[in-house]
Amino acid sequence: MCLEKEALLEVRNLKTTFKTLRGQVTAVDGVSFCVGKGEILGIVGESGCGKSVTSQSIMRLYDEKQLVSYEGEILFEGEDLLRKSSKEMEHIRGMGISMVFQDALSSLNPLYSVGEQIVEMICCHKAVSKKQAWKTAENMLRLTGIPAPEERVHAYPHELSGGMRQRAMIAMALACEPKFFIADEPTTALDVTIQAQIMDLIIELNQKLGMGIMLITHDLGVVTQTCQRVIIMYLGHIVEEGRVEDIFDRPLHPYTIGLIKSIPTMNTKKGEKLYMIKGTVPALSEVTKGCRFCSRCDYATDKCRAEDPELVAFNESQSVRCHYAGKLTRTEAV
Ligand SMILES: Nc1ncnc2c1ncn2[C@@H]1O[C@H](COP(=O)(O)OP(=O)(O)O)[C@@H](O)[C@H]1O
Ligand SMILES: [Mg+2]
Repeated sequence: MCLEKEALLEVRNLKTTFKTLRGQVTAVDGVSFCVGKGEILGIVGESGCGKSVTSQSIMRLYDEKQLVSYEGEILFEGEDLLRKSSKEMEHIRGMGISMVFQDALSSLNPLYSVGEQIVEMICCHKAVSKKQAWKTAENMLRLTGIPAPEERVHAYPHELSGGMRQRAMIAMALACEPKFFIADEPTTALDVTIQAQIMDLIIELNQKLGMGIMLITHDLGVVTQTCQRVIIMYLGHIVEEGRVEDIFDRPLHPYTIGLIKSIPTMNTKKGEKLYMIKGTVPALSEVTKGCRFCSRCDYATDKCRAEDPELVAFNESQSVRCHYAGKLTRTEAV
């Protein structure tokens, strides 16, 4: 469900299957969602739930045909990216869609200055002079709040702090003014104050540049300040989707309920143990025919173990994949 009238990105029934030595695994299994122009969509779930595979499938970063297969459609401005040639995808990456990854240090080349890397990116995609590209690089660093960008543009990645490197990565990703920006856990390796600054920066850039943004995080708390809508993923499925305020007011899926309960609040006392969802995300090879969450769910019944529920619309803005959606009482919920 898109709140915006015009969808910038529409993913329809995406399935990404890897061939591994131990057989095939479908890491993203029938995922559909859309992001409106200028909207910030959050994607949340624990590690291993398929968030990065979803984003890297959109960018078509796994393109070795023999090792990965995609099914479904990824419509970007109405055109299916799964039907684009590698050459066309090269153009779309950077100009149309760009992405920052979790680990900025390993994504930047240690042998080149930050400016050289941004300039290379610009010159790959745009017919501009080197001089203009250097000016844009400096301006992009300024836009991301890097102090003294005219000096920092010549710095090497190791000369910058973690927060600065992440800003430099964002500057590089935005240098060609993409219409859609994917931030895959952009602050995981950073401390909390820098995390908050980077999130503020993402909101500011969204407002200034009007890009559609997909923000991936394992921290549901982060989406409250940043996103309009959120998708909760579990083991390759969307288990809940809706407006952020609706999801927090009335989470419907036991997994969402668990994620909300585990966010520390102002009332959390020092030393108090935070709530934890029992167990861990199982391997994809352990997926059984029932609900994927049932091994960790406090409310699971025989029906849950036997039958995988569908994702269904609960109301006009919220969808959920649970046989008992809306039947868990508010006190049980949070
Ligand atoms: N290239 C790959 N080959 C096989 N399995 C993969 C590959 N990349 C990811 N996976 C599997 O897909 C699942 C989802 O991974 P991922 O999307 O990285 O999770 P996360 O939600 O933490 O970003 C995991 O079980 C992971 O092991
Ligand atoms: Mg990931």
